[in-house]
Amino acid sequence: MIEKINDLIRRVEEFKPKAAAEIEEFRIRLLGKKGELNQILEEFKTVAPEMKRELGQQINRLKTLAQQRINDLKTAAAAEPAATEQAAEDLTRPGSNDKIGSRHPISLVRNQIVEIFSRMGYTVAEGPEIEDDWHVFSALNFPPEHPARDMQDTFFIEKNPDILLRTHTSSIQVRTMEHQKPPIRVVCPGRVFRNEAISYRAHCIFHQVEGLYVDENVSFADLKQSILYFAKEMFGEQTRIRMRPSYFPFTEPSAEVDVSCNLCGGKGCNVCKGTGWLEIMGCGMVDPNVLEANHIDSKKYTGFAFGMGVERIAMLKFGVRDLRLYFENDVRFLDQFNSVL
Ligand code: PHE
Repeated sequence: MIEKINDLIRRVEEFKPKAAAEIEEFRIRLLGKKGELNQILEEFKTVAPEMKRELGQQINRLKTLAQQRINDLKTAAAAEPAATEQAAEDLTRPGSNDKIGSRHPISLVRNQIVEIFSRMGYTVAEGPEIEDDWHVFSALNFPPEHPARDMQDTFFIEKNPDILLRTHTSSIQVRTMEHQKPPIRVVCPGRVFRNEAISYRAHCIFHQVEGLYVDENVSFADLKQSILYFAKEMFGEQTRIRMRPSYFPFTEPSAEVDVSCNLCGGKGCNVCKGTGWLEIMGCGMVDPNVLEANHIDSKKYTGFAFGMGVERIAMLKFGVRDLRLYFENDVRFLDQFNSVL
């Protein structure tokens, strides 16, 4: 009997199947109900008691070895199907879904903003992120002592107060006026930098789309109508806007634009803090000083400008409460925007 067992152990060790199906046959022959192992166990019952210990150990060894070997062979066969099996593969089966990436929500919203304004005849202009004082501040009528130039808001490069990271994309509008004569109609998307503490509603890096329209007879009514069109396209046909007087060095008069809250429809909720309105951008008529600084005759031409934060628009559009999510690149967050826009 011991020979029978040892022989089986050898067969298990030397077993090399040519096809996956042979493994299962082998298992049934060996470990099945009427298999060789059970036959040995039957015989085992009649063995003399003094032999039982040694034989029992050997039978156990055979059993674990056989199970282990069959499992190993099956896993290997599953990972690497034999050539014969590959040929028999069902070619009509649907293909596996490859995971493709999605656009970042900030890109989606920026593209949509740009697209809406391009329908109104605006072209896109871009500019450098590292700027000089002239393009970010001086050409835009910032007085020398204006707090926005302060170290608290602006990142200066290597302690040189003339070279800095742009704090708004209005610098691109200055660059456009430098080399283009009116009529000018541009939108300026881009990344901007402000030295602010990072929280759920502010970040030191964010994105803006600003716009500039300069021509003869451009009025505040044109500005208002353009913004209303934009708001309806972005947030839905039922959207209303209101303008509150404000101040920017480069526009006069200036206004802050609110849209009716698209969550509660203007009734008041916790997103609009009960007011029914959400602030989305700053705007105004280009200050004549800005036109003159850029060699545009302010007697002949007028213009309007506006600027908005892309993160802010995206937060309102998607109901995202924490702006930091846009910078963390967590795929579980980003995946949700796979099919929007
Ligand atoms: N540049 C302003 C900002 O960054 C936005 C703005 C642009 C306001 C144009 C008025 C006109 O906050």
